[in-house]
Amino acid sequence: MDDVARSTTYPYPSDAITLPPSSRVDAPQRASTPAKGPEIPSYLQDTYYWCYLNPRNVQLLDREFVVRTILWQQHRKLQKLAFAEIQPGQSVLQPASVYGSFAPNLAAHIGPEGSLDVVDVAAVQVRSVGSKLREFPNARVHHTNILDFAGRPFDVVCCYFLLHEVPDDYKFKIVNLLLEKVNPGGKVVFVDYHKPRWWHPLKLITSIVFDTLEPFAKRLWRSEIQEFANEPGHFSWHKETIFAGLFQKVVATRMD
Ligand SMILES: C[S@@+](CC[C@H](N)C(=O)[O-])C[C@H]1O[C@@H](n2cnc3c(N)ncnc32)[C@H](O)[C@@H]1O
Repeated sequence: MDDVARSTTYPYPSDAITLPPSSRVDAPQRASTPAKGPEIPSYLQDTYYWCYLNPRNVQLLDREFVVRTILWQQHRKLQKLAFAEIQPGQSVLQPASVYGSFAPNLAAHIGPEGSLDVVDVAAVQVRSVGSKLREFPNARVHHTNILDFAGRPFDVVCCYFLLHEVPDDYKFKIVNLLLEKVNPGGKVVFVDYHKPRWWHPLKLITSIVFDTLEPFAKRLWRSEIQEFANEPGHFSWHKETIFAGLFQKVVATRMD
């Protein structure tokens, strides 16, 4: 594994998550070990500090019932739909941490023959997801911006509710980066928001929440995820919507 500068990798099982990144000099074959962690993107600092970077809030929010509540009790179904694209024994990249038990559930789903690589740009998130994956020797957490992640191609990339949180230029970059991370036959699975049907009882409240707290989310109401890809023709695309259109699963399978 050959991560780029400004990233740190935490293999598991490990007690390393309590150590500063510069202490991880014992894993040079897996990652470079810069003195400083990766730069926090401005959208994360400015818009999402309160929920993803503030350590006290992270401790409060990183719970299964929080994800279930935010996703209107659809989280289990959405997670199941994502996992349905992933077979035991496969190598999986999760490009950002997810609150609750998503990562350990995924590690359990792929089993000991599989491998899970979770990436997150925020140190507090890396520590949190790392502690949840402590029991899984087949899982590693990388402290880096996903755009700087130089890990090998994977069988599956599972991008769960990341795209709606990033600005448009990041949406393009992340989609294209993730599409590069699979070999022919491999899949990139996106689960995220989608424009709900006009009559959806939660459309108005979702719209207000997006306008107030999630300024980049409505782009997914206007654009297909496929439209962010530079070379969509190399993939077969399958999209399904869930919960009267409020959510979507898009699977891009690399053909060549
Ligand atoms: C995947 S999303 C949220 C998923 C879901 N809403 C939940 O309940 O957790 C949030 C995570 O993405 C991470 N993140 C955002 N931008 C990132 C980037 N460019 N590279 C790596 N991680 C990123 C944040 O640090 C945060 O931990």
